[in-house]
Amino acid sequence: MKITFSELDLPKNGAVMIGISDPAKLHPLAAKLDKTLGGAIAKAIKMAKFKGEKGETISLVAPSGSDYDLVVISGVGKDEGRIDLTAQAVGAAIVPVLNKYKVKKATFVVEKVKRYDELAANIGYGALLRSYTFDKYRTTLKEDKKATFKELHIAVSSKSDAEKLFKTLEKIADGVFLARDVVTEPPNKLYPESYSEIVKKELTPLGVTVKILNVKDMEKLGMGSLLGVGQGSIKDSRLVIMEWKGKGKTTKDFPLALVGKGVTFDTGGISLKPAGGMEDMKYDMGGSAAVVGAMKALAGRKAKVNVVGIIGLVENMPGGNAQRPSDVVVSMSGQTIEVLNTDAEGRLVLADALWYAQENYKPANIIDLATLTGAITIALGQEYAGLFSNDDHLSATLTKAGKATGEKLWRFPMGDEYDKLIDSPIADMQNISSGKGAGSITAAQFLLRFIKKGTHWAHLDIAGVAWAKEAKDVCPKGATAFGVRLLENFVAENFEK
Ligand code: BES
Ligand code: MN
Ligand code: ZN
Repeated sequence: MKITFSELDLPKNGAVMIGISDPAKLHPLAAKLDKTLGGAIAKAIKMAKFKGEKGETISLVAPSGSDYDLVVISGVGKDEGRIDLTAQAVGAAIVPVLNKYKVKKATFVVEKVKRYDELAANIGYGALLRSYTFDKYRTTLKEDKKATFKELHIAVSSKSDAEKLFKTLEKIADGVFLARDVVTEPPNKLYPESYSEIVKKELTPLGVTVKILNVKDMEKLGMGSLLGVGQGSIKDSRLVIMEWKGKGKTTKDFPLALVGKGVTFDTGGISLKPAGGMEDMKYDMGGSAAVVGAMKALAGRKAKVNVVGIIGLVENMPGGNAQRPSDVVVSMSGQTIEVLNTDAEGRLVLADALWYAQENYKPANIIDLATLTGAITIALGQEYAGLFSNDDHLSATLTKAGKATGEKLWRFPMGDEYDKLIDSPIADMQNISSGKGAGSITAAQFLLRFIKKGTHWAHLDIAGVAWAKEAKDVCPKGATAFGVRLLENFVAENFEK
């Protein structure tokens, strides 16, 4: 999708969209357009009881007496609250409409309201995010399924302000698209080795240093917890480390580490999952994708911060060499783990990735993202990701970033009562709870055992939000890239000011 900006004016023909906040009081260009169309806009507003709410649209197809192919009246809501999120929803909402009418390019007219530059840039951003498609494995595409809409032109007063703002948003979208791409790739194509190569190829040109550890490297480091998960697969495990030094090459201080679960396919292992729905487990690397996407966004816009991203990549398979329920593994931290259920593998991968992050970078803050538990979906559905943390301030700033980006978080309790449920009779801990319920919390307690005293840590359980069953706002159906926009905003607000 190509997005361009020009000074405020009505196009003479083609497809035009016009933003309306108050149907009773049309802005000057909307009124002018209505006049050209012989009052058709006012009539349509009345007929459809159009309120001007965000995302509301009415389409007038080839209105007679004009040269327009399509006129879309687009509600932009009242000038209140989060204007950026509203504008993104508006931009997103027009994409399916324009595709439906086979439009190739269209002009959105953004009339003079408060913060029109922000409004215009975010309309473009919303349309861009919603227009994502993944067609590389199709050899044919039915005519009615083809996305025709490829060019959005936005007419706005002072176009250079909007343009400048959009340049940054476009970099974030690049990160979102990379994350969606790797999540959507099928697991026969995307496995630890191929995934690590994609990360290297995508991030190195942006100035990110990418290191890849193979099985031998990890054996030397004693990463028995991560390696145990991958040992049943013929695809070897990897650990990928991405360093972004926006503060200059000489600084060694990394105030923030992002850690991601990258299980490229989760069969459950010997504790095999049922067949129905197992295909969903290709997105069990969604946490790692969010980290990779965020690193791309931050490097792309040259964020003035040092961040390290670390992702643990494994495939969880049954097989002759797979780990067994009741195996005991030794983690890099030295703590021993009794693996009672090989399907609770994400925490085993993260345990070593988290420890590696602390040993090598001593970050003051660590955020991990993982499609960790089915239980989080029972609690929160597809609306919120679960937030677990040992720090109130970090929780508050992350929650705020969630509200600002629409990638919402809800904090869960943690505590000793939950922690003791993962004590093992024969090792330091076991990888599933001995009790019933609170499965997402006991998973988080497990991770907390791998966080050193004094480190501010937050864990985001994104199992319910990494994949959208239906299109919504800026996300088409499928991989959402949940976490990319959240992390980018979190860094901008807390590390670059
Ligand atoms: N990858 C799954 C969690 C998951 C479920 C992600 C649904 C996305 C959608 C995870 O590895 C898993 O299998 N968790 C188990 C934990 C249990 C064995 C304690 C679960 O949630 O059932
Ligand atoms: Mn699992
Ligand atoms: Zn998993």
